[in-house]
Amino acid sequence: MQLGVCYYPEQWPQSMWADDARRMVELGISHVRIAEFAWSRMEPRAHEYDWAWLDEAVSTLADAGLKIVLGTPTASPPRWLVDAYPDILPVRADGTRWNFGSRRHYDVSSERYREECVRIVTAMARRYGKHPSVIAWQTDNELGCHETIPSYSTAALTRFRTWLARRYETVDGLNRAWGNVFWSMEYPSFDTIELPNLTPTDANPIHLLDFRRFMSDEVASFHREQADVLREFAPGADVLHNFMGFFTTFDHYRFVENSAIDVAAWDSYPLARTEVIALPEEDKARYARTGHPDVSAFDHDRYRAIGAGRFWIMEQEAGPVNWAPWNPVPAPGMVRLWAYEAFAHGAELVSYFRWRQCPYAQEQMHSGLNLPDNQLSPGGLEVARAAREIAASSVLSGLPPASRAKVALVFDYETQWMFEIQRHGKTFDYQTLAFDYYQALREMSLDVDIVSRNADFSQYSLVVVPGLAVMSDDLVRAIENSSAQWVFGPRSGSRTSAFSIPLTLPPGLLQSVLPVRVLEAESLRPTLRPATSLHGVEGNAIHWREHLQPGAGTEVLASFDDGWPALVSHGRVRYVGAWFDHALHRALLEDAARAAGLAIGALPEGLRVRRRGDVTFAFNFGPDVVAAPAPANARFVLGTRELRTADLCAWLET
Ligand code: GAL
Repeated sequence: MQLGVCYYPEQWPQSMWADDARRMVELGISHVRIAEFAWSRMEPRAHEYDWAWLDEAVSTLADAGLKIVLGTPTASPPRWLVDAYPDILPVRADGTRWNFGSRRHYDVSSERYREECVRIVTAMARRYGKHPSVIAWQTDNELGCHETIPSYSTAALTRFRTWLARRYETVDGLNRAWGNVFWSMEYPSFDTIELPNLTPTDANPIHLLDFRRFMSDEVASFHREQADVLREFAPGADVLHNFMGFFTTFDHYRFVENSAIDVAAWDSYPLARTEVIALPEEDKARYARTGHPDVSAFDHDRYRAIGAGRFWIMEQEAGPVNWAPWNPVPAPGMVRLWAYEAFAHGAELVSYFRWRQCPYAQEQMHSGLNLPDNQLSPGGLEVARAAREIAASSVLSGLPPASRAKVALVFDYETQWMFEIQRHGKTFDYQTLAFDYYQALREMSLDVDIVSRNADFSQYSLVVVPGLAVMSDDLVRAIENSSAQWVFGPRSGSRTSAFSIPLTLPPGLLQSVLPVRVLEAESLRPTLRPATSLHGVEGNAIHWREHLQPGAGTEVLASFDDGWPALVSHGRVRYVGAWFDHALHRALLEDAARAAGLAIGALPEGLRVRRRGDVTFAFNFGPDVVAAPAPANARFVLGTRELRTADLCAWLET
């Protein structure tokens, strides 16, 4: 349980650095990330490096005893580089280019830009790679942020054609796989294929999907080129990238393949995230100052798996931010709570954004641990408190890594892309559906691992698959070989990997373990709400519903008011033919969890628990005073049973 901070020495007079470093250590901070936007200072003119200031910053921080995470500066190419190579600017879907004047203004497919990145990263890594205090490297910053991916550039087109030729080998093969006989879309050669933008009506969904697959691979290879340099010149240091919350533009499981990273770091902004995701307005209102109780946890549980157990918070909100539609001040206590929440879910490090609020430029309304006048901010004071508490508790400072949960929730990036490409109903969003299932599980007091479709499922008691566009033989085998209860949501097995409907009808390959056919699927406008009930809970289908025809041996567990089955099962496998409302999801998952033999609780609204080692943490995000579900003989290591808003406690069961 270590604390860190993001620091920008280049934004402050050098005379402040030593005092900043001293105060960081005094506060209980052990890690500091620097340099990720400082290219114009490292190389003010082409090939003219200026390392003096960074040498000084690194040694000042190192001398204070801080561990340094160095960021490669490739998210902000300097003006001279853009002037020399204007083609590195990314291109939007409408064909226009983004301008210089902020950040992330580069095309991930530009080979020229990639060469420039490898050059600056090599220079940096040669200089600092063996520095004993530089213990980790972050590549770039938030790849894909600000919708700069995908880029519809000539460079992307050229590389896309090569990617397609490698995948399909012959253009006839591609024409067949894409179904290009439809609307006379057949191509005579790979070099006549365009990017899927600027078409009068929808482009072919498989064209769009392959472009998304390609772009995802581009992001991964962009990182990989830098990671390879870092591995060579900074052996022993951890390599990481700071991923984002609720972000699905690239496939993070593929990104991390072949040891591309050592730690999955991600940037957690719970209040802003609560404002921007698709949540009911009453939830946004209720949790405006605390963040939704599952919004950070969802990504803690996702990145823990992506990092194969190792994850950090690289940037943690420390007060109001500047980029959501509204940016309130967090409820007193939340900055402290978010740190423990991350630790409870297994984080090794929680690093705050940023050391001091910057009085100029784009982020002047963004808080930090210090106010612009260098006094600790309210968030900074809460971090100081958390640091003191952790240092004083041998239980907290000695927590083991998070162990495997009993419940797995499968999240699949390609499914997100496929259902975005073909929403069919404007309110269908797969990640929102997955989040609703996740919330229901957490309300039942269950710990959850969010994993890929290729995970090892053998140890889980309950596996929830909120929807999975493409079923595979491997997953069918995993179902057969596990002893878990499985729940499949709507649209599972509804497509092949070539983006067509399986000829046996959805759910495709799942039929071998659960005989059912989806005859028709419909999206539901808000006024269409087929009703059903499950274990006495009355509710409705929203957004999506299917007409299911059960096969031999398949049981109908619930039906809609118009007679169509709502939920069917066969042995340990359930299939839900609709997007259920939240109460029904809860009833569905309670039933499955009971069948799996799991102990479930019913937490008061806004309360969440999470176990790490022998310690159970409870967090109150809600407005009411609630009691934590600790047993009578619990030994509290933090707080007490009674929790006000934004308060937490932690106990050992003795
Ligand atoms: C992140 C970004 C940081 C900073 C922060 C503000 O997305 O990585 O550089 O801009 O947001 O919340």
